Formats: sequence, structure tokens, C-alpha cells
Amino acid sequence: YKKVTVKSLVDMKKNGEKISMLTAYDFTMAKILDGAGIDVLLVGDSASNVMAGHETTLPITLDQMIYHASSVVRAIDRCLVVVDLPFGSYQSDPKEALRSAIRIMKESGAHSIKLEGGKEIKESIKRILNAGIPVMGHLGLTPQSIYKFGTYTVRAKEEEEAEQLMEDALLLERLGCFAVVLEKVPAKLAQKVAKAISIPVIGIGGGNGVDGQVLVTHDMIGMTHEFHPRFLRRYLDLYKDMTGAFKSYIDDVKSGDFPNEKEQY
Ligand code: KIV
Ligand code: NA
Repeated sequence: YKKVTVKSLVDMKKNGEKISMLTAYDFTMAKILDGAGIDVLLVGDSASNVMAGHETTLPITLDQMIYHASSVVRAIDRCLVVVDLPFGSYQSDPKEALRSAIRIMKESGAHSIKLEGGKEIKESIKRILNAGIPVMGHLGLTPQSIYKFGTYTVRAKEEEEAEQLMEDALLLERLGCFAVVLEKVPAKLAQKVAKAISIPVIGIGGGNGVDGQVLVTHDMIGMTHEFHPRFLRRYLDLYKDMTGAFKSYIDDVKSGDFPNEKEQY
């Protein structure tokens, strides 16, 4: 038993041990995930979709991210907690980025932050790292830029974008980031990036040649329903199982079967 730190993640890469990472937005789920032995919990801005029902990650606020993050931190014993800086909380200038990162660290008790992008946010990353806050990068399909991309399809299939991505990954390593998420890029490119840098590359839709994997928990346990990207493996069909349980409860209440003699005072 030992607590996962940013240092142990880099050591895991060195030792060839893969890193497991999933999302969490609330206390109860985080407690189950930490107890199961997950290495890293990401309080992702995917909470905007999964928790709040927005179409994109753009609407979620810093206050809302802090609420989710503090709920997760209260649940965990062992894993490392990473929190997304939400859209609008770091793009304007490096000082604002640092203020946002400090608020997350102070008000939630999380261990690190993640933000999307490479060279365009270099100064912000520097400033946050200078304050002693560990930073995870995020390249490839960066959902906060969805209106620039236009679609959620695979990124960096063309030479130019692939070269830029490699440059950005090298930059993130040079700046001192402790890891980088690579989302929805060709497996060959992801593997090349993982070989080129010494910090862990955590893939989502990036194939098996990287140092770890992340998925959105609600997707991998099948709670979400109409989302079938190729990279997603479903470990449960909770949408079906939960619907069945809820229907049974409704039937039992309607029929008067619940509660029975033993289920009352
Ligand atoms: O917000 C999120 O869930 C993420 C992961 C998919 C990497 O950023
Ligand atoms: Na995110």
C-alpha cells in the first residue's frame, strides 16, 4: 500500500508499469474507484456532459469544478487526483491561469491540475509549475476547442498536425509537466510520442503503445447509452441493469409489494 504521487507515475513509466486512470466527479464513485486500486482519478470537465447534461465541456465553471473536486478528494486514500481547469479559467492570461489553479488546489485539496493545449498556453503552464502545482498536459482532441475542430473525429492524421503535436509534447516535458493525456490520435503517433518523452503518456483512443489509459467512468460502466466510439470498452451494461432495477421498484411500489412486513417498523 502506498499513495500515488506525480513522482510514482514517472517511476511507473520507467519501470514499464502501465498507469490506470478514470474520471470521478462525486464522493461515492470516487470511494469505489480508490478502493478498487485506481492509480489516478481525473475530475474531468467531462462533468459538464456527464453530470450536468451539457452538449460540450465549455459551460462548466471553476466553482462547479471545485465542488466536484472537493467531493472526490474527501473520498480517496491512495490515488492521485487531477482536476481539469475549465474553459475560460486559463486562456486569457497566465496570471488568471495561476489564480484558477491555486483556487482548485486550495479549495478542493486536489493534488494537481490538467489543462488543454501546447505552445499557446506555455506561459500559463510555466507560471502554475513555478507555484509548485503539478501540471498534466492534454493534446490531440482537446474538447474545449470543439468549435475550432467542428467534429469529435480523430486528430493529427495529417503530417503537419502530427508534427505540431510531437513538438507540443516535447515542450510539455521540457516545461516540467508530470504527464500528458493524448486523446483520439493514431496509435502509431501516440506510441512515437510516448517513446520520445520521459513523462507518462496517458491515452484515450490512442492505442496500446502508450504508458497508461483513461476512460470516462460512466462510459466504461455503461451508464451512458448513446455513445459508441471505437476506443471505448464497456465493462458493465449499467444502463440496462439500472433501468431493470428502477422498473422493479416502480412495479413493487405500484403493486404494494414494497415494503413488506420486514421492511417496516
Ligand atoms: O474531461 C475528461 O474526462 C478528460 C478525459 C477524457 C481525458 O479530459
Ligand atoms: Na477534460
